[in-house]
Amino acid sequence: MKRILIFASGSGSNAENIIKYFENRSTGTVVAVFSNNSKAGVLDRAKKFGVPTVIFSKEELNTGKVLQNVLGFQPDLIVLAGFLLKFTEDLINAFPNAVINIHPALLPKFGGKGMYGMHIHKAVVENKEIETGITIHYVNENYDEGNIVFQQNVALLETDTAESVAEKIHELEQKHFPEIIEQLLISNL
Ligand code: GRF
Repeated sequence: MKRILIFASGSGSNAENIIKYFENRSTGTVVAVFSNNSKAGVLDRAKKFGVPTVIFSKEELNTGKVLQNVLGFQPDLIVLAGFLLKFTEDLINAFPNAVINIHPALLPKFGGKGMYGMHIHKAVVENKEIETGITIHYVNENYDEGNIVFQQNVALLETDTAESVAEKIHELEQKHFPEIIEQLLISNL
């Protein structure tokens, strides 16, 4: 059974979906949820399923304390699901090819610093894109630039708003993210 550790900063709908998916699987299990935000909804969601939570500060992330704590959980795969701080090199180096992120757009479009959450969907609508989608990619030291594992697109209509785009993206994330994680657990690790 492979061990998944999730980093999240926000509501945690993806984290909850991943926790639920792996509750009934023999391929993997979520061993902990780490968050830099003590008010993040993800913490309550994890607790509901009995998954241990760890809250840390930006300083603890940048000074190696978080790495030490993560190592204690012996994860096989680290999943960033709405994690808003820059992931650190010590963690990336400690888990080569074992840190992935989900980005709610078709990278390399709409990626980089400041491109998160509704900012992305607003930019997509303002740009009159005919499609958007999700990207699951390995994490390297630059925002949103690691090798792409999976992308799925969805068509946009002229009537779409940032809110309706967010809903379309949410559906794609719920459907694909756990399955792609499971494929990685089976094949790569
Ligand atoms: C998701 O859209 C994810 O792609 C992104 O941040 C959002 C997190 O949502 N990077 P949630 O916290 O999982 O509900």
